[in-house]
Amino acid sequence: MILVTGGAGFIGSNFVLDWLEQSDELVLNLDKLTYAGNMDNLARLEGDRRHQFVRGDICDRDAVLALLQRHTPRAIVHFAAESHVDRSIHAPGDFITTNVNGTFALLEAARAYWGGLDAGQRGAFRFLHISTDEVYGSLGPGDPPFTEATPYAPNSPYSASKASSDHLVRAYHHTYGLPALTINCSNNYGPFQFPEKLIPLVIANALAGKPLPVYGDGGQVRDWLYVGDHCRAIRRVLEAGRPGEVYNAGGGNEMKNIDVVHALCAILDTLAPKAQGSYASQVSFVPDRPGHDRRYAVDAGKIGRELAWCPLETFASGIRKTVQWYLDNQQWVANVQTGAYMSWVEKNYVNRGNA
Ligand code: NAD
Ligand code: DAU
Repeated sequence: MILVTGGAGFIGSNFVLDWLEQSDELVLNLDKLTYAGNMDNLARLEGDRRHQFVRGDICDRDAVLALLQRHTPRAIVHFAAESHVDRSIHAPGDFITTNVNGTFALLEAARAYWGGLDAGQRGAFRFLHISTDEVYGSLGPGDPPFTEATPYAPNSPYSASKASSDHLVRAYHHTYGLPALTINCSNNYGPFQFPEKLIPLVIANALAGKPLPVYGDGGQVRDWLYVGDHCRAIRRVLEAGRPGEVYNAGGGNEMKNIDVVHALCAILDTLAPKAQGSYASQVSFVPDRPGHDRRYAVDAGKIGRELAWCPLETFASGIRKTVQWYLDNQQWVANVQTGAYMSWVEKNYVNRGNA
């Protein structure tokens, strides 16, 4: 069995579904079900005894330890986090609680559990921490992409909290020998992404006839990776990564935000044409995100060389599949656009006005 934290969120649920398509090894899924956690993502696994869901908080060290001792997993894959940069600007406290204190509590529980295993099990155990390229800060236009040796320079409360958790994971390996590994990944997109993030937000707003909010001049660059490719990278690192190592994963797809938005509009124009005109007419430039990082790009050379991983989806293939998924799953979007979602939209966009 493996323990997955945050397995009802975007990447976590894709990982759990993917894992159980590839193998019959049981998954114990620990998730607090915050606004971002959604059991609908896992509906396909209803009645599947290979998936056991536990609602709980990674900050509760004793409860996590009891869970580990009861189920004796051979690995922990740690996704659980507060993940949205804009929310971290409005309310950083939750990010410190879950991403820093929660990771600390999880590491403490893992250390206690791991220390009680026999020598063979201890050597085989893995703690795989899922982190982000945002810990490396912002690149200039001509800078080389982030490598695993790039110094940390987080710029938002979110990325600072993730950087902090990465340092704790590193320290638990270095000090206690916990067989921990970290993946720092670029922007993911794909099915089940909560519509607060750029790509699903633009698709949902476009179909609803609402403005497509582009922060600042839309010239910020992100390196987009299809979520299924990230799940493959995680499986590969779990299988063959060296304890104590960090692996960067990215899509090799650097794109300006405005180009991503126009690409989405063009696909929607083909797959779900409006009665008149293009979805691009809904683009609306709004005031920038405070402290907005200008450019991220990932050098995925190490994971390619050592673990033979590379993305299988191009941006063109992955984004088309993603738009089709959102068109086919409009009820999923409607279900998450609850009262709490609407008050977030109000807080982040209504007071922003137009640029
Ligand atoms: P998400 O916000 O969609 O999901 C987070 C999940 O964690 C939710 O199911 C939520 O209920 C759960 N959770 C939150 N706090 C918890 C707690 N205290 N205890 C237990 N569960 C808790 O996030 P995501 O986009 O799927 O990201 C998953 C991980 O990958 C995060 O660690 C994030 O930093 C990292 N990451 C994300 C991206 C991306 O583009 N989305 C890229 C690189 C790395
Ligand atoms: O780089 C990895 C990170 O990618 C992950 O660690 C984070 O969890 C994930 O949320 C993501 O962070 P970003 O801030 O890059 O993603 P987001 O989808 O929020 O924004 C992508 C870009 O689009 C960013 O430059 C901000 C911009 N944007 C975003 C929103 C929501 C807009 O222009 N308008 C918007 O309404």
